Parts: sequence; C-alpha cells; structure tokens
Amino acid sequence: MRSGSARGEVLKERWKAFDSVPDLPDIVVASSSLESSALLTEKDVTTVAVIVGPALPGDDDLRPTPGAIEASLRYGVDFADLAERAGFTGEAGTTHIALLPRVHSRRGAHLPWDGLPLRIVLLGSGSGGPADLRHAGAALAKVTRDDDRVVISLAPFVDSGSVRSAVEGYLLGAFRAPRLTSQQTAVGSAMPQVVLLVGEEPRDTLESEVQSVVAGARGTWLARQLTALPSDVKTPQWVAARAGALADQAGLEYRVWDEAQLSEEGFGGIAAVSRGSSREARLVTVTYEPVLNSDGAGQSADVPKPQHVVLVGKGMTYDSGGLALKPRTSMVSMKSDMAGAAVALATVLAAADSRSPHRVTAVLPLAENALGGASYRPGDVIRTYDGTTVEITNPDAEGQIVLSDALGYARLRLEPDLLIDIATLTGATTTALGHHRAALFTTDEALAEVVAGAGARTGEQVWRLPLVRDYRSALDSELADIRQTARGDQGAGAIMAGLFMQRFAGDTRWAHLDIAGTARSTAELHEVPEGATGFGVRLLLETLAAL
Ligand code: BES
Ligand code: MN
Ligand code: ZN
Repeated sequence: MRSGSARGEVLKERWKAFDSVPDLPDIVVASSSLESSALLTEKDVTTVAVIVGPALPGDDDLRPTPGAIEASLRYGVDFADLAERAGFTGEAGTTHIALLPRVHSRRGAHLPWDGLPLRIVLLGSGSGGPADLRHAGAALAKVTRDDDRVVISLAPFVDSGSVRSAVEGYLLGAFRAPRLTSQQTAVGSAMPQVVLLVGEEPRDTLESEVQSVVAGARGTWLARQLTALPSDVKTPQWVAARAGALADQAGLEYRVWDEAQLSEEGFGGIAAVSRGSSREARLVTVTYEPVLNSDGAGQSADVPKPQHVVLVGKGMTYDSGGLALKPRTSMVSMKSDMAGAAVALATVLAAADSRSPHRVTAVLPLAENALGGASYRPGDVIRTYDGTTVEITNPDAEGQIVLSDALGYARLRLEPDLLIDIATLTGATTTALGHHRAALFTTDEALAEVVAGAGARTGEQVWRLPLVRDYRSALDSELADIRQTARGDQGAGAIMAGLFMQRFAGDTRWAHLDIAGTARSTAELHEVPEGATGFGVRLLLETLAAL
C-alpha cells in the first residue's frame, strides 16, 4: 500500500503559502519628467532613481543622461559630479545611493531639496544595451526592497525595447526565494510600486509592453517557486493538483493521468521509473488555445501562421538516482529535477496571459526516482508509450525514460508542429557549459537560429551542441531497440542523452534543451538569483513570439 497521498494532504495544508505566486511589484507608466512631476512631493515616494552613463563602453567620464540632468535641476544637486567623486563608474548593475541630508532643527535653513524624497539611487547603465538595462533594473530592485513607492526616470531609455529590459530586470531581481520558517511570512511580503517617468513617449504602447514583460516575469517567479519547493511537499500528486488549479484559474483545459491510467494506456517508462517510490506518478497536459478574431487575425500576411507547440518538461520531483544511488552531495539539489516541468507549465500559462497566437500544450511527466525493493533495475527491458523497447543500463538516467513516454505521447496524439523538450537531464551539460548557458540540440537549422536568437534577447542563453550521428551506435542494444545509456567509455554525456531523446521525436520538428546547469545558480548574478532560476520561461516565450 502506498501512503504518500495522505501525507501529501497534510503537508499541502501546512504550506498553504505555496498555493499562490506572490504579487509582483506594481509597474505604472507616467507621462511626466523628473523636472516637473508632482509625484515627487507625495509622502509615500521613498526613492527616486535615475540612470547615469557612461554612454559608451570604456568611457571613463560619467556622461549625465537627460534623466540625471533633470534630477539635478529639480534637486539643485549635480548628481553626476556627486557620483563621480564617490568613484562610481556607471558600470551596468552597479548603484550609487545618495542619502541627502536634512537641515539641523536648530538652524532652520532652507535646502533646495526640501519636500523631495531624500534617497536617490544612481543606476549604472553601461552601454545602455538590453542586457545592461536588465542588469540596471535588477540592481534597482535589490536596493528598493523596503520602499513603498519608487519613481524612476528612464530618460533617455524610453523606447519600448529599453523599457522592456529595465522593467524585466526589476521584476526578476525583485523575486525573493520562499522560506519555510515558523512565521511563514516571507512569502507575499509587500512589493513596491514602481512609477516609470517616460516624458512624451506614448503611454499605451509602453503599457502593453509592460504587460507582456509582467507575464514572462510572473511565469519565471512561478517556475522558481515550484523548483525551490522541497520534495516532501511537491509530490507528483501535489504538482499535478497545483498545475490543475493554475490551469483552472487561467481557464485552460487540462488532463491528469493517475498511475492506473498510465499503466493501462501504455506509459511503461513513467511506470518503471516511479515503481520504487511510495509517491504515485502523474502525467499532466495543459493546453492553451488562442482565440482567433472573427476578422481572421492569424490569417493575414504579417501575422505568423498559428502553430501547435508542445513543450515537454522533465518532472522528477526528486532524483535519488534510484538503484544507482547518487552520492550524498549530488543528491542535495535534486528537488530541482522537475525544473523542466515547472518551466513548461509556467510557459503555457504565460503564453495564455500574453495571448500568444500559437496553440501551446505543456506535457508534464511527474514522478520520483527512489530507491526501493520495487525499483527498476539495470538489465530490465521496458516498453515506452510509442512501443520502443529500452534496455535499462543506469537507473539514474531516469529523465530520458519519463521523457520518452511524454515525447512519444506528444508526437502520436497531439499533432504538434513543433516539439520542444526541456529537462535537467545530464550533469555533463553543467560540466561543459556551467550555470549560465543551456545546451540546445536540434537538427533544424532555422529552429536553432530562432531559439539562439531568443536566448540572446532574453539573456537566457543557449549554446548548441551537435547530435553526432556516429555516436548513435553506442546506444545499440542486443536485447531491445535501444540502450538507455551508451555502451563503454563513450564520453559526451549530454550528447548521448540528446541522441536518445531524438529517437522519440521521430520526424517531428524538435529541439531539446538541457537545463541541468542553468536551472539552479550557485550565486546571485544580476537578474538571476541564487538557487532556482526559472531559466527557460522567457526563452520559450520569446521563441513562441519569434516563430
Ligand atoms: N537529474 C540528473 C542530472 C543532473 C545532475 C541535473 C546535476 C542537475 C544537476 C539526471 O537524472 C542524471 O542523474 N543524469 C546522469 C546521467 C547518466 C546516468 C547517464 C548524470 O548526469 O550523471
Ligand atoms: Mn538521475
Ligand atoms: Zn534526474
């Protein structure tokens, strides 16, 4: 008998805080400038932020931006000079905070900044490019956590691309990892309101830009939160229930398979991996269906042809290695082994949120790879959803097994135009690329360009690795259609796993993203927090937008 479900219910009650994503900072666009804005005299405005140069990389002198000049005129303080004397270089992601003095009560003199916010944050913008503005936004978020209301002049970076980057950086940088303390207060602590002063720039364009940024950032927060959650809370059943609740909230169709249904319908891979665990596996699909306007939007020449994009995300709620038990230190971070599923789920929700013209389905195979008397063994042969037989050779390569079921299902039942799987699949990817580049595999050149371009624009960057044909024979099995892992001392672990997955995509247009390195970061870096990063949500959203 399995006892996982009853225990899961108790925990769900206990960590209710995780049933929702905390509110993001509120972003407001205002058509005024620092020189004249009446906002600056409002009591709850606690910080004023301006972007300062340098205008060019390698430029030593700070070149005051229009925003900095406006602030200087309003306050009667030369802020560029102040920053320069403090050794501030204007490098992207750095800040200089000026706390303006109040006059001593016994003097009663008048200061030019009387009645204005006394905390000024000068933000380095580096070259002023998208990545640098994202870093500037993230830096501002970190120094305004305790503020009620922040006013920022973005001038001269008020075009929609620049606003997007700065706001994105702010929202991503404002995330705080949930804590499970006895107080349970860390989640949902109030976020500041941020007012963007954009001068004459048309507000409605910028407001819709901000909305789309918020959708991606909220998705990233959701993925980070789910990935950071401990495995004793997020059983496969819990994640399935959470996915269902989120789909319901968004008005999306979803379906959940329990273990009996999975076995009955031939999902032999998920069943095999899950067998050693006391926690039942689940498979979840969530579908977003775009509503086409009656005027035929989606048909006209300048609008892309709507496609069905299926996102398959690896959802190991814990990976102990199974019978190939991991060493203690490797096991510590394995609650993150469902990051792919978290990202796929968050992406379909964000695609709905931002009204993507494409149909998007997330397919989430959820299971726990545990050590037990019933665990699947090396030497076993399993049959996956599409009928392929696999000779098990290393129970720690469990991701490939659950994904083969999910990819087979997606290919055979969902009629995808494009299939993308995203998975914390191999430690070899981390060895090769570290924590700030994901591995991209595809044989489709155009698709490789789309995904790499999306990576460059979002900062969630990918590096393409080859699906070396000559390596394929190392997966030949004497017993089954294919071996789970390569025979002999083959090396190229990330590529071998990619070659294994390729078989299950068949002839469908397909890309594989190995996020083993990028799903968690070892240190905070600009908009990327330490721990769960949510890497992939913005990459996939931007990929959808570029199709
Ligand atoms: N979940 C791991 C991969 C992983 C390792 C992700 C480190 C994040 C950080 C995966 O299931 C695994 O164990 N892969 C094996 C593959 C091998 C058995 C072919 C690995 O990387 O050692
Ligand atoms: Mn594993
Ligand atoms: Zn794994």
